[in-house]
Amino acid sequence: MAKIWYLGHSTLQLEIDGVRIVTDPFISENPKAADVNVSDVEADIILVSHGHGDHVGDLVELAKATDAEVISCFEITTWLENQGHSNVRPMNIGGNYVSNGIRFKMVNAVHSSSFPDGSYAGNPAGFIIEGQNDCIYFAGDTALTYDMKLINEEFDLTGALLPVGDNFTMGPDDALKAAQMCGTDRVVGIHFDTFGFIEIDHEQTEKLFEDAGIELFLPNPGEELEI
Ligand code: NI
Ligand code: MN
Repeated sequence: MAKIWYLGHSTLQLEIDGVRIVTDPFISENPKAADVNVSDVEADIILVSHGHGDHVGDLVELAKATDAEVISCFEITTWLENQGHSNVRPMNIGGNYVSNGIRFKMVNAVHSSSFPDGSYAGNPAGFIIEGQNDCIYFAGDTALTYDMKLINEEFDLTGALLPVGDNFTMGPDDALKAAQMCGTDRVVGIHFDTFGFIEIDHEQTEKLFEDAGIELFLPNPGEELEI
């Protein structure tokens, strides 16, 4: 089981085989995560899916404070190096990398990517995080894509972190299809309710997944869970 501390939006602190992995740090500017303190977050590794502000808002500060290894595309790790954080691992889609005994595979995401100032931030991506007994798909921001079937062919997922907020990413219907395509029966919804564009109906979304026999968690910022 992977321990998860949900920090709001697409930010999670996962603990797998004793390694703390933080995804897309965006906390201090998230009005829904006012009770979460960035200084309480612990990270050995930080994964960054793309350069949009709601995914890198606290990246520089958290990377420097924890000296975590930041795994992302070359454009984002270079941007980080230019801001004085050198513990980085550039990757690109399709690549594998093992750090602290955990295998990371960078996979496709159908979205866009630029830095908050509008400059080029490479291509958006997702990650497979494979430990000894856990195998989790962090989808980043993405639309539904048939590429998710490739994940099912290669991995035996124990859970997936999928955007469900619609508008900028998959909504609940496509996220359910994504879960079925990538072959997981456990989903943590991310990228929902943070701002008006991505508010979802919890009851309806929970029923949709329940009817399909897939366990769905829609955590509140600050909530801890295990998948
Ligand atoms: Ni985005
Ligand atoms: Mn986003």
